[in-house]
Amino acid sequence: MTGDHYFTAEPTTPAQPREVEFSVAGRDYTLASSAGVFSAARLDPGTAVLLRKADLPAYDATGPLLDVGCGFGPITCVLASSAPAATVWAVDVNQRARDLTAANATRVGAADRVRVAAPDDVPADVEFAEIWSNPPIHIGKAELHELLRRWLPRLTPDGVAWLVVARHLGGDSLHRWLVEQGWRVERHASQKGYRVLRVTR
Ligand SMILES: C[S@@+](CC[C@H](N)C(=O)[O-])C[C@H]1O[C@@H](n2cnc3c(N)ncnc32)[C@H](O)[C@@H]1O
Repeated sequence: MTGDHYFTAEPTTPAQPREVEFSVAGRDYTLASSAGVFSAARLDPGTAVLLRKADLPAYDATGPLLDVGCGFGPITCVLASSAPAATVWAVDVNQRARDLTAANATRVGAADRVRVAAPDDVPADVEFAEIWSNPPIHIGKAELHELLRRWLPRLTPDGVAWLVVARHLGGDSLHRWLVEQGWRVERHASQKGYRVLRVTR
């Protein structure tokens, strides 16, 4: 094991391909994963709470939808499968995570609709009907705030963002900070120590 963080841009940890299996809304997923990305061995419990508790996009939603910090792509793949006509943008700083998300988009038959990109490569004029994120808390509070200040304003006027944050990692203070920034924030669900926040204008 090296000193890589999961948000390292170019992980040096050997890849070690593996698969992660999980079910959401009655659908089974088997996705490719690897060392060097976040929660490589299993669906992260926070992501599991988010995907269980938040309102998945409607079947006929077209998006565009955004997954900020896509990791190996579990949220992206669930969004793309739930809304089979939607364009889904998947953004991550970690190249290996982006490669895995692209491979997993192919696995779920959505390669033509999933746009995997580094943050700076998302065209500035794209607005998102929904933003989903299990955000990277460990990058630090200032960086996390910067990340949210960057992406949340790109919601369409009636867009919705769904965030999951562990309470012990600052879920409630993030809720307060978002309100201070002028967002409407509802604690949509709370389970296993995770807060699911629904954020609108
Ligand atoms: C908590 S993980 C969630 C990963 C995945 N969505 C999941 O549920 O398993 C957060 C992700 O954000 C990525 N990340 C870190 N800093 C970022 C940034 N500035 N912009 C976009 N993604 C970032 C990390 O590389 C990591 O993959």
